[in-house]
This record gives sequence, C-alpha cells and structure tokens, in this order.
Amino acid sequence: MRFPINELLDWYDKNKRDLPWRHTRDIYKIWISEVMLQQTQVAAATPYFERFVRELPDIRSLAQADEEMVLKLWEGMGYYNRCRNLQRAARIVMEEFSGIIPQTPERFETLPGAGPYITAAVMSIAAGHPMPAVDGNVMRVCARFSGIEEDISRGNTKTLIAARLQTIIPKQRPGDFNQAMMELGALICLPQRPRCNDCPLHGDCDAYRTGRTGLLPVKAAKKKIPHYRVSVAVIRRGDSFFIQKRPASGHLGGMWEFPGGKSRGDESPEETLTRECREELGIDLSPLEELAVVNHAYSHFKITMSVFVCGAGEQAVRPLNSQSYQWITIADISRFPFPAANHKFFPRLRRYFASRKS
Ligand code: ADE
Repeated sequence: MRFPINELLDWYDKNKRDLPWRHTRDIYKIWISEVMLQQTQVAAATPYFERFVRELPDIRSLAQADEEMVLKLWEGMGYYNRCRNLQRAARIVMEEFSGIIPQTPERFETLPGAGPYITAAVMSIAAGHPMPAVDGNVMRVCARFSGIEEDISRGNTKTLIAARLQTIIPKQRPGDFNQAMMELGALICLPQRPRCNDCPLHGDCDAYRTGRTGLLPVKAAKKKIPHYRVSVAVIRRGDSFFIQKRPASGHLGGMWEFPGGKSRGDESPEETLTRECREELGIDLSPLEELAVVNHAYSHFKITMSVFVCGAGEQAVRPLNSQSYQWITIADISRFPFPAANHKFFPRLRRYFASRKS
C-alpha cells in the first residue's frame, strides 16, 4: 500500500489550525490537552485548556492543588475520572519520578489514565516516539483510505488500524503525523460530505476511488442509552441550603450534589424525594415546592431531574453514610464543582433566593 506521507505532512504544515497546545513542547501541557481532546471537541476544549494551564502551569502545581479546585477547572467537560486520574498521576510523578514526567512509553503508561490513546498521543507529540494515536477521526480516515469494511467500533478493527499505521508512521515527525491524521478527520474527511477534492490522500484513497465514502466507515449503531427520572432536594434553612459531596469513587466522584436519587418504578417525583431523603439523611421533608425540571444527557445515560425546595424543620440534616456536607448560600455556589445537570437549574435557584430576600 502506498501512503502519501509527504503530501499529508505538507498539507498539515499549510492547513493546521493555530491551537494553543501547538505552540508548546511542554509535555505537561500536551498531556493536559490530549486528555481534554479525548472527550471534548477542539472549540469547546480550548478555553478549558487555556484556563487550566494558566491556573496550574506545571506538574508540581497540579500535584499540590486541592482536588476540588482541579475539578472546578474541569467542571462542564464531563468525564471527571479523567481529571482525577490526571491529578493522581501528577502526584505519582512528583513522588516516584522526581517531578519529571516520564518520556518513555513503558514508564508513562504506568500512570493512572494513560491508556493506549493518551500514551501514543503524548509520547509521539512531546517525546518523538513513533506510536500511532488512534481516535475516532483517525479510524474514519483509515477505514476510508484502506477500504476497511470491518466495524470500527470493534476493538479488533482498532488493533488492525493501529498495526497498519505503525508500519507507516515516520520516525522524524511522529507527533505531526498523528496530528495531521486527526486534523484531516476534523477538517476534510468529515463523517458526512467529506471534502475529497481538498484531501492530500485522495489519489490513493480506496473509498474515493470506489465511490464508497458514504458507506465507510462501517460502525454498529450505538445502543440506546438509558433514561432515568431523578429527584433532588434543595433543603432550605433561611438563606442557606444543604449540599453534600459525592463519594470519591464512582460516577461524578468528588463533586458536590443535592440529596436525592432515581425514581423506582412508577413512583412520583415527590415520592422519590421523600424516600431518598429518608434513606440518605434519615429525615422527613416538609412542604415540597417544585423549583424546576431539567433534562440532561450524560455520556452513558440521560436524566430528567425534578428539583424541589423544601424544609426539614428542626431535624438534624446530615448524611447517614458520613459523606462531607455543608450549608451554603447562593452566593457561595460557584465555589463548588457540581455535575452539569445542576447548572441548568442554578439560574432558577438564584432567582428563588433573590425574590425572597426583600
Ligand atoms: N484531537 C486530539 N488531539 C488533538 C490535537 N493534538 N489537535 C487537534 N485535535 C486533536
């Protein structure tokens, strides 16, 4: 198979986007950028990246930062485990690697969160190792270029693509090669209506030659993601309300939340809330006032969240499972990292407290 490496790299040199992580050779910053870009589109990730490296400019500052501050910088991007793994990795680098981020794949891949994609991307871009970084864009480009008909959502297909790329990745410019393939997927080899006339690979592209760009890549339909009904309580005491911290492990670990949970069967939102608050806090809530109903899609499920403002009278409010908790006012809320769905009702909550001030 001929692969037009020089044409690809020339195209990249002329057409690559001017992105902040392309102005640095600092392995720390490149690592941060790749973890963000693994999950978030370039346009959305860019301001997060700039703020993150401004607040935490090196591995030491990340290792020493308060976990909550780091989550706050990540808030809104989702995949908070990746953020927490980055900080765990930074602490390991400080303790076990004398503060120097490993520059060999064998060592780098021992760090939390350093899977095959992150290892290949960081090691190729920042340390010059010829390792193909295979993300969704790269798989699409390769499936079309080589006419691969296997389902790209299968691990085997990814392995096959990585093995082919391993044979062509240039030793002199592995990081540029990987970024050029990603860039081609983002700008030219689009899922719908690829811009083949502008593509540096089209002369050798199987899908282009056989008129199959609309048929490739083959990708199994995604499983339908589950939908849950959730109720949460803003338990009020004067101007203050109660929040609790989620356990460190598990979904959205270490972020803050309001008490509540998922509905069972055909339970009403009010019944759910009453039951959950009895289970979590051992209290009986009194009058429930519906504040908002918000919909949100997380990566693996969707929720409809009913939010109630309520009171607990004289009862002591504290999580039975010894989670941390706080009573805060609406002015404090921006200091705490909350899952994205919560941000959708914060404007209502602000108005609620503003209207009760006077
Ligand atoms: N997606 C993943 N890594 C990227 C990079 N370095 N530049 C642009 N998009 C990317």
